[in-house]
Formats: sequence, C-alpha cells, structure tokens
Amino acid sequence: MEWSKPITVDEMYGDWDYDVAVELLEQSLSPRRALSIFDTVESLGVGPESVVLDIGGRDGFHALMMAERFGCRVMAVDPAPANIDEGLKRIAEHDHGSQVEIELGAIEEIPASDNEFDLVFSRDMLNHVADQDRGLAECVRVLKPGGAMVVHEVFETELMEPREAARLYADLACVPERMVADSFEDVAERAGFTIESLEMIGSEWYEASQEAGTAPNYALQISRLRRSKGELLEKLGEIPYRVMYGNALWSLYLFIGKLETRLYVLRAPQ
Ligand SMILES: C[S@@+](CC[C@H](N)C(=O)[O-])C[C@H]1O[C@@H](n2cnc3c(N)ncnc32)[C@H](O)[C@@H]1O
Repeated sequence: MEWSKPITVDEMYGDWDYDVAVELLEQSLSPRRALSIFDTVESLGVGPESVVLDIGGRDGFHALMMAERFGCRVMAVDPAPANIDEGLKRIAEHDHGSQVEIELGAIEEIPASDNEFDLVFSRDMLNHVADQDRGLAECVRVLKPGGAMVVHEVFETELMEPREAARLYADLACVPERMVADSFEDVAERAGFTIESLEMIGSEWYEASQEAGTAPNYALQISRLRRSKGELLEKLGEIPYRVMYGNALWSLYLFIGKLETRLYVLRAPQ
C-alpha cells in the first residue's frame, strides 16, 4: 500500500475544503503535446538534406508531417496493405507528397539498402514486434553510421496487474515481453545502439489532448462498450469491438499510471 494507514471516516469528512481541492485539479499542468515528438526530431538536426524512415508508419500521416515541417524526404514502411492503400491516396493529395514514399514491409526485413537513412522514426509500433533483436538490427543496418533512431513507446509500470495486462495485450496485438522498458533497453544495446536520451512522457500527451478537447472520452467509450456489449458486438464484429475496447482501456491505463509513454533517442554505432 502506498500510504501507511487507511483513512478514517472522521478524516475523510473532516476539516478540509473539497472545493479548494477541485479548483486545484482544474488547473492545467501544461502537459507536453504529442507534437513534441517533432521537437525531439528537430533537435537531432533533421532538415531538407535528411532522409528519414518512418517504420510502422501506418498511412504516411507522420511522414507527411515531417516532410512538411523539415523539408526532408521520408519513406514510410508498414506491413498492413490497407495502410499502404490509404497512404498512397493521402500522399497523392498532400502538398508535400512528392517528398514521401510508402512501402509495404516490416521492421524485421526493411525494404531499403544499407546506410540509407539519417534518422529512423518509430512511433508506437515496437510493442507489436516479437523479434525486436532482428528489428533493431535492421534499423542499425539501414541507418548511416552514427545515425539516430527516435523511439516512442508505451510500457507497463509496476501498477499493472498480470491478468489485466494479459487481456489488454491480447486485444491490441501487443507482445507481452515487449511491454517492459528494461527489456527494450537491453535489446537496443544488443543491437549496438547507445541510449542517448530518455524523455519520460508518462500520460502528458493524453492530458494535453483531453485539455484541447481533441481526444474521445475514453471512460465513456468503455462504459458504452460494456453496457451495450451484445449490440455493439453484433454491429461492429469481434475484432473492432476488442480493438476499440483495448484502445480505450489503454488510454485509461495511461491516465492512471499502469502504462507510461517514453521517448528514446538511440544512436547507431559509427
Ligand atoms: C499503433 S500503430 C502506430 C502507427 C503510427 N506509427 C502512429 O504513431 O500513428 C502501429 C503500427 O505498427 C505497424 N506494425 C505492426 N507490426 C509491424 C512490424 N513488424 N513492422 C513494422 N510495422 C509494424 C502496424 O501496421 C501499425 O501501422
């Protein structure tokens, strides 16, 4: 237990001001926004001469953002054919689409030659990768000597209980062993990377999106998914139901500290 003794009824309803507490909690702690990942990319000197790989780059969303912000060229690689189809459309319609390519592929066998990239950008994808040794060795191979890799990943904390973890990871195609930060750091070092920096983001990006009103109300989603399970399962099907449930729960677990977001900069050997 975090506290040495339970609170008594007298203490709970005692001489303290509930309204003051609520008011304090209404005040923003100025959380970093998800876009802060690009400040980290900028700090690594990415510019018009740079060539970036966005591994697990979905439909090129972040690749296009980097092309626009830094003037760089970006290749997005993703193993889901639906993401590639969507990405080709997105790239064709975007003002900076000529700087971006999207390819079907996976981190375990990156469709690129040796020493091709100045930076590998990996956002929220390594939890899916069982053989991370192979994946990170591939990142070292395609990076120029001394190149950097930016890794955004979510890891479990000591507050996560095994049964809830097992259910969550099964619903979101996460490999349980890959949810442990120490294990990721070991893999990175085995691949030859040096851990240059670690930013603990925790739940800040989620706080920021709630404050900005740009994220769904995940608690409400969970409640509806639970109360209307039969109907929603019938309308959505099992896979979308489970993914929506898992995504909402993932967000709540970030808020309550069972999960935490970390941002690493790794440096490839010279
Ligand atoms: C949670 S999404 C994140 C997408 C994007 N990076 C972002 O931050 O929005 C995880 C992505 O990883 C991709 N993925 C899964 N396994 C992968 C693998 N072995 N190699 C590369 N990408 C993979 C999925 O197809 C999906 O697009």
